[in-house]
Amino acid sequence: MRPIVVSNLKIGYKNRVIAENINFVIEEKDFVIVIGPNGGGKTTLVKTILGIIPPLAGTVEVLGCTVGHVCPHRKRIGYVPQMGRIKKDFPATLLDVVLSGLYPYMHRISFAGKDERGLALKMIKELGLYEMRNELFSRLSGGQQKRGLVARALMGHPDALIFDEPTSGVDIAAASDFRKLIIDLHKKKGIPILLVTHDVNPYLEHLTKLIVIGRGMCRVGYLELLKDEEFLKKIYGESIKTIEIDGRIYLLSGDFHNV
Ligand SMILES: Nc1ncnc2c1ncn2[C@@H]1O[C@H](COP(=O)(O)OP(=O)(O)O)[C@@H](O)[C@H]1O
Ligand SMILES: [Mg+2]
Repeated sequence: MRPIVVSNLKIGYKNRVIAENINFVIEEKDFVIVIGPNGGGKTTLVKTILGIIPPLAGTVEVLGCTVGHVCPHRKRIGYVPQMGRIKKDFPATLLDVVLSGLYPYMHRISFAGKDERGLALKMIKELGLYEMRNELFSRLSGGQQKRGLVARALMGHPDALIFDEPTSGVDIAAASDFRKLIIDLHKKKGIPILLVTHDVNPYLEHLTKLIVIGRGMCRVGYLELLKDEEFLKKIYGESIKTIEIDGRIYLLSGDFHNV
């Protein structure tokens, strides 16, 4: 069963269409990257796939059932959200936050038992955060919080993982570790990935599909999309340029008159 199938999807809010006619499939082996300008609709797309925002038209299927109807599989997708600052007095510990990854699986509100705590501690250990397990989540660094959210997303042994700009706001070293973690989750655990990011280069050898979204347009393809300057100008604005150096592809925007 294919993890995610998006058909004729129209995304947006009550009075505002963000993009339409979106079609793509995420197969088990896929590593899909979503790029686009700020405000282009990347998070809206992700949240619609997750069933957090209802589609304006079209469907999202997760493991064969349509999200939005009674779909037991929706929770099979792990989600690491784009994160703002967490309030200093947010009262949960890292262990609490990781345990909350099991809430969709609990039939009623109940305290986590020994098994659940054991699983959470195992995930925390796998992500190198064992020493911090009883720290307040808000006291952790940005990179540690992101790892904590991955541990949380892994609690239900997801069939696919969605990351929304996971390395933004994280320092360079932590971001590099985090990129390795995402690639490992794909390569070693075999989890299909949908990743929203601004830089495709660290993932080039793993990438299987590219989605570019912005200014009402959404195209699904591969790296050829980054070589279509006409299209990129429509999405990012006139000043965008694509530069290829040693097989890496950089999108630059700004004033090039003197270059
Ligand atoms: N709840 C909302 N209601 C109405 N418009 C929204 C809402 N959330 C986001 N938007 C608008 O939708 C557009 C796309 O936003 P978003 O999906 O967050 O973009 P991105 O993640 O690519 O930066 C933006 O113009 C944003 O202001
Ligand atoms: Mg966003």
